[in-house]
Amino acid sequence: MNIKNICCIGAGYVGGPTMTVIAQKCPHIKVTVVDINESRIAAWNSADLSKLPVFEPGLAGVVKEARNRNLFFSTDVDKAIDEAEMIFMSVNTPTKTYGKGKGMAADLKYIELCARQIARVSKQNKIVVEKSTLPVRTASAIKNILENTGNGVEFQILSNPEFLAEGTAVQDLLSPDRVLIGGGSTAEDKEAIQALVDIYANWVPRERILTTNVWSSELSKLTANAFLAQRVSSINAMSEICEKTGADVNEVAKAIGMDSRIGNKFLRASVGFGGSCFQKDILNLVYIAKTYGLNEVADYWEQVILMNDHQKQRFSDNIVSTLYNTVSGKKITFFGWAFKKDTNDTRESAAIKVADNLLNEHANISVYDPKVTKERIYADLEYLNSRDPEENRKFLKVENDPYKAANDSHAIAVLTEWDEFKTYDWEKIYSKMQKPAFVFDGRGILDINKLKKIGFVCYKIGSSS
Ligand code: UDX
Ligand code: UDX
Repeated sequence: MNIKNICCIGAGYVGGPTMTVIAQKCPHIKVTVVDINESRIAAWNSADLSKLPVFEPGLAGVVKEARNRNLFFSTDVDKAIDEAEMIFMSVNTPTKTYGKGKGMAADLKYIELCARQIARVSKQNKIVVEKSTLPVRTASAIKNILENTGNGVEFQILSNPEFLAEGTAVQDLLSPDRVLIGGGSTAEDKEAIQALVDIYANWVPRERILTTNVWSSELSKLTANAFLAQRVSSINAMSEICEKTGADVNEVAKAIGMDSRIGNKFLRASVGFGGSCFQKDILNLVYIAKTYGLNEVADYWEQVILMNDHQKQRFSDNIVSTLYNTVSGKKITFFGWAFKKDTNDTRESAAIKVADNLLNEHANISVYDPKVTKERIYADLEYLNSRDPEENRKFLKVENDPYKAANDSHAIAVLTEWDEFKTYDWEKIYSKMQKPAFVFDGRGILDINKLKKIGFVCYKIGSSS
């Protein structure tokens, strides 16, 4: 089957960059990314490339190359569905906030709406690709909805989870470790799988394109995220032991990482993992395990989240106890709000929880992040509903200049590992702070010896010195 038109529903952090790279690498295919959010589509179409809704290193250049050549961003969902032979579903699948499975299960409301819209609009056979992360066996529900429309259109459902990490999305898409495609076993299913393989084969070596059955593909995505998050919680658990015993977590990470069976990636101790996926996907996995009565399996994975919550809590507790058991009325400066460097995404960022804890202790917080907007930061706090929005705005200020943010503060807390934090003039920062001046490095990126020489009192995650 020769695909000439692709539609992607959902122009978010996954749909936008993924389709941009497909369009760049497949100039013979027209790729239309649609979204119900008009302002998001307008931002993708913005002439000023610094206004794209997603910040990713290298993305603007690829958008510039492909946009309006064979890459289009539109709010006309019906038209794009109608034209396409292949439709990617890349809408968000947040954790349910109501009803059965509240706080755990994935909310598939948007996926179902998408399927119903595809069913209503389609006049010819189509391949529907699950790009969103979905609970295992969702494909059968989608197939059910699509096939019960009675208009004789046939649909093949594929699972093609996305493994890109934010901040390195373009590189991950251009050179993925693997592309995973799950599909059924009928002749039509096989043809659909091949059509998607052929698209990726335009730039991905064949041996890195893996095909499996649909359920393996759906479950592999949840498993990959669970394993990655587990590594972070494991090293974070060790960071607390290191602080008590005089070991240094970076040295431990290096020592174990040289064992080729363990490997040296994903061993950075931190104030806790964030991002839209890890927590959501593990909760989803826990829910699935519980649904099948696998309580020990559920408890095992839930511990990864409990450890992560503990890591955020103990970071803020440590700030309070170190500042003589009170931060009331004291200014504390946050360097970083994003959940990791090189992204403007703040979903589930550790900074949000740490700020909430410190605001409960009546601290005054000043935040500087190179990419996150003021509106986003206040929206993150308001979402928690811990206090009035006016109080958040009164006690937490957002600054555009790191030196201004640090002026007159008692302590600086590093919440995101942005490279620029390492190269600041720390003597200048020190000279304008209250004394004793404290630094709490939640990412272990600063040169603590240098800071100590300047006069700072330092805490670094996973180290007692
Ligand atoms: C994606 C995946 O879809 C999710 O399952 C995975 O776990 C993480 O990555 P992401 O791209 O990060 O989600 O989500 P988001 O940036 O919120 O983008 C989703 C987009 O879908 C939004 O722009 C939203 O407006 C759009 N949408 C949602 C629709 O166009 N139609 C809908 O019915 C619902
Ligand atoms: C993750 C997966 O890596 C990706 O494959 C999947 O498609 C989506 O979820 P992402 O959340 O974008 O990607 O970023 P990732 O680099 O995995 O980092 C997640 C969180 O873990 C961040 O808060 C990061 O700071 C933290 N982390 C990561 C650590 O604290 N230590 C580490 O060693 C690695």
